[in-house]
Amino acid sequence: MAEQQRVSIHGQWSGRMAFILAATGSAVGLGNIWKFPYITGEHGGGAFVMVYLLCIAAIGIPIMMAEVLLGRRGRQSPINTMATLSAEEGRSPVWKYLGWLGVAAGFLILSYYSVIAGWALSYVFRTASGIFTGADAEAVNKVFTELVSDPERLLAWHTLFMIATMVVVARGVQNGLEKAVRYLMPALFLLLAVLMIYAMSNGHFMEGVEFLFRPDFSKIDANAILIAMGHAFFTLSLGMGAIMVYGSYLPKDTSIAKTSIIIAAADTLVALMAGMVIFPIVFAHGLEPGAGPGLIFKTLPLAFGQMDAGILVGVLFFILLTFAAWSSSISLIEPAVAWLVENRGHTRVYASTVMGFATWAVGLGTVFSFNIASDIKLFDKTFFDLLDYLTANIMLPLGGLFIALFAGWLMAKQSTEDELNSSKRGYNIWRFLVRYITPIAVMMVFLNVIGVIRF
Ligand code: TRP
Repeated sequence: MAEQQRVSIHGQWSGRMAFILAATGSAVGLGNIWKFPYITGEHGGGAFVMVYLLCIAAIGIPIMMAEVLLGRRGRQSPINTMATLSAEEGRSPVWKYLGWLGVAAGFLILSYYSVIAGWALSYVFRTASGIFTGADAEAVNKVFTELVSDPERLLAWHTLFMIATMVVVARGVQNGLEKAVRYLMPALFLLLAVLMIYAMSNGHFMEGVEFLFRPDFSKIDANAILIAMGHAFFTLSLGMGAIMVYGSYLPKDTSIAKTSIIIAAADTLVALMAGMVIFPIVFAHGLEPGAGPGLIFKTLPLAFGQMDAGILVGVLFFILLTFAAWSSSISLIEPAVAWLVENRGHTRVYASTVMGFATWAVGLGTVFSFNIASDIKLFDKTFFDLLDYLTANIMLPLGGLFIALFAGWLMAKQSTEDELNSSKRGYNIWRFLVRYITPIAVMMVFLNVIGVIRF
């Protein structure tokens, strides 16, 4: 079929704004507000943040453009898009396995993402109960520990969140959350701004800002660099076909470069704001920046417990965080569902149910890794830690590497030029980045971790 006539059987975004909202909805999520602060805290702050920002600019944005470009040209699930495009470009059909790698990564990420989103959901009710009003660090810590040590409660929230995700996916991403995201994303942004003003007035703001932005490179090692790079992929939803599948619903005339930059900028801003809210609280209460995955749940409630209208602000915050997680989680499973619909002829409802159930079941491993199975470790990591490390730091960068190689080296220049349709200069910068900078950077970080090279 000629590329000009190819259309997605799953429909199309109503326009550029709809795509920006959906892709931003996918990008902005737990990664920005839950994960970014806690991994930054674990790796000493400033230097880690700088590596992360560098990865967003030099690796994230070019790969995002490549993913959108491939998706829009292929107009199918990532697996079939890769099969179609590799045939069209006269390349080996093995490229479709890149789609499979992505489906596997998305599936595994969602299995634990849903458990963490369940924490956020449960905190809507914890906060509403007034339990945090006037609470000290110890009391707040206890609330968190009690939650994660109770497998039944974690399971209930995980189940609820998973059902909510699959309901939206079953209805089709274009007419589901797209409308809600339009209001909820700006609301989350505003609320973060309010919390930042609170953080500025509590006396330890500059300490937090310094922690975030003053780099001390002695604090990071090869592994920290890998984690910062992995997080750049994770936070922008790259490397597994989520943005590719969203790109496949993108109208032909939209500028890929501009939209990608807008999405990456919004995502980065939200993460940095979250950091500027959390770390001042950490220092004000003498807490540990490296407290791990519970960091936001151990810090934010302290602020909610002390500010005026803290219950209201806190409840709103956790509701919006849950929505942000929700609009991210649907993109993790969309490539798999789109494929089941295309190749197996299943209905969206059936495909979503099957995938949702399987993901939910794998999520049990994460649920138990915080309590009854917290002693079961491989490479010194619990099931959750291992899954997170494997997906974010290995599968996503590997997927991204292959996406960059395919778009930069294996597709005809004419094809990518047509699809990006940007200025000559913009195109040349992009092509240079995906051909050289991105693949070399990813490979160097990998080699650095394995110990083959040192920087
Ligand atoms: N980017 C989301 C976040 O920051 C998570 C996410 C959604 C994701 N879709 C993805 C991560 C695809 C990797 C790949 O919370």
